[in-house]
Amino acid sequence: MLVHLGDMLRHAYSNGYAVGAFDLVSLDFLQAILAGAERQRSPVILSLAESHYGYFDPELLMPAVRLAAERSTVPVAVHLDHGSSLEAAIRGIRQGFNGVMVDASTQPLAENIARTRAVVEMARACGVPVEGELGYVAGVEGEDAERHPGEVIYTAPEEAERYVRETGVDFLAVSIGTVHGRMRGEPRLDLERLAAINGALSIPLVIHGGTGLGDDQFRRLIANGVAKINYYTALADAAGAAIRASAVVPGHRGYTDLTKGVQAAIQSEVERCIALWGGAGRAEAVLEACRPWREVEHLVLYNSTAEPSQTAAMIAEGRRVLAEIPGVREVITGTSVRAEGAYRDCWMVRFASAAVIDTYRDHPDHQAFADSHFRPVAGDRLTIDYQLGP
Ligand code: 13P
Repeated sequence: MLVHLGDMLRHAYSNGYAVGAFDLVSLDFLQAILAGAERQRSPVILSLAESHYGYFDPELLMPAVRLAAERSTVPVAVHLDHGSSLEAAIRGIRQGFNGVMVDASTQPLAENIARTRAVVEMARACGVPVEGELGYVAGVEGEDAERHPGEVIYTAPEEAERYVRETGVDFLAVSIGTVHGRMRGEPRLDLERLAAINGALSIPLVIHGGTGLGDDQFRRLIANGVAKINYYTALADAAGAAIRASAVVPGHRGYTDLTKGVQAAIQSEVERCIALWGGAGRAEAVLEACRPWREVEHLVLYNSTAEPSQTAAMIAEGRRVLAEIPGVREVITGTSVRAEGAYRDCWMVRFASAAVIDTYRDHPDHQAFADSHFRPVAGDRLTIDYQLGP
């Protein structure tokens, strides 16, 4: 079941465990991650990193991610990982993410704050929580860390306090010694720094670059406020090992022969992490503690008084303008199949959550369209917002 990410991570933070945010790049990953969470009866975060969009089309994969989340029996959130801009966050919410990360961590502090705050203002108006990053976690997910040495910039506790206060982020990704990707040996973590950040903020903290940390390191991170752990490279490596093992089996030549063991390999690593990070067996308690994520259908029934060609132009303009408003997921228009029906024309505008009802109504693009195009030709009309759900 899809739930509010904020509720999920606050539950983890107050109960001393961390939820895995597993990056997925294909249906194999999606199915394996969810099968692992179901088997462990654990909450889980399905994460899609913008840097991976070269490997799949998010417009195609996201409907599958949403459907998988909605039909699962454990609490699930769908999170945009390393969103690069305000536009990426708006697009992400339209595609169905109910949590977004804005990563402006390579920018100077003031610029990081300004960019993050813009995303928080937009996302909050859509009811979607935001993860920010302060300090810099080097490396690239799925690759050898030494190929992307970068310079790790540690998060300073006093800057973190200012960053969270001025941006309003719900969760903070911190840099305390981890790197993205494959490492040689265990990294050295600055746990004192983490404890100071946690003491100053009291909000769920996030660790990026989970691959390669030792069991004890994970336990210490969680004991110091880490409630979300981002994890990808080890899953990709488990999948790669499964493919290599299949490749040496005589007769294995085709795609399905080679990828047969991939899901089981990913699932086993996901389950190991969930058990280690303390999420196993928590699904029912988390479902109790979390608001289900519910979309809203904004339904407008009307009779156009304009000529058919003018009506068509008005509808085309509305579809173009309204679909761009943050928090709008989809704009559908239709005409009654019976000419004599009470209301012949309709708009069905899908909102990401109930928070979008006010945002949409007050948005200048909506008001301009309604005042100058729609209301003049739709005198008799009915408007209802339906919360969607079982
Ligand atoms: P790893 O690939 O090192 O596990 O890091 C994943 C990550 O931080 C994604 O944001």
